[in-house]
Amino acid sequence: MKDNLREIFLENIDSTNLWAKTNIEELEDKTIVFAGAQTQGRGRLQRKWVDLGKGNLFMSIVLKPDKNYEHYANLTQYLSVTLCKTLEEYGIKPEIKWPNDVLVNGKKIAGILAETSVKGTKFKGLVLGIGVNLNAQEKDFSKIDKKVTSLNLEVGETIDMVEFKNKLVTSFFKDYNQFLEEGFKFIKRDYLALANFLDKELCVALINETKTGVASGITDKGELILTNNGNEFILNIGDIL
Ligand code: BTN
Repeated sequence: MKDNLREIFLENIDSTNLWAKTNIEELEDKTIVFAGAQTQGRGRLQRKWVDLGKGNLFMSIVLKPDKNYEHYANLTQYLSVTLCKTLEEYGIKPEIKWPNDVLVNGKKIAGILAETSVKGTKFKGLVLGIGVNLNAQEKDFSKIDKKVTSLNLEVGETIDMVEFKNKLVTSFFKDYNQFLEEGFKFIKRDYLALANFLDKELCVALINETKTGVASGITDKGELILTNNGNEFILNIGDIL
């Protein structure tokens, strides 16, 4: 681990994201909070993140920038690319489902949730949470309502959670400053190479409606371009169904 990173391990916690947000004022920039067990894991779009037992990764990265806020919204996509590179070190072929889900063989292996902390009008920091199924058992997948997998099942051996976390965190901070300077453009090529949704007919759930169309590209800001009957829709939030 690099010297300028701080780490906090919590044996058992409701949610590492919630804990980091609650304690944000005391936490320094680039603090890594990770847990042995997580009882109330939060997911995107008000979903839950299920704890699949010991040895899985529940981690939140606390970021308190003093500049370059404009690219913060794309940090989840940056983390998804970083995660794919880490997973590739284990000999598997991950894919990204827009905006930041990471899948292996069409099954979800990880989830990413960014939450901001604001007090009054003051931005206090960003909590970038990630859950990765590293050591799950197939029988527990019935607790989850979508197709999921776990790294141990993909590679056929137990995964050292701390070693995985260290690889991921090192890879994340390697290009972090450059990413903040350049934004999504910096990762666009890698992101597109990992994307599993391009040129496909998609149905995307937005906050109050659903849009269908062919995924014809990604903008320089990481937005999804959907084309339908010659009309282009640029989506910056949503869930591919
Ligand atoms: C999703 O796919 O919906 C995102 C799931 C994010 C889960 C992680 S686990 C660590 C961190 N703490 C939380 O409560 N959620 C994130």
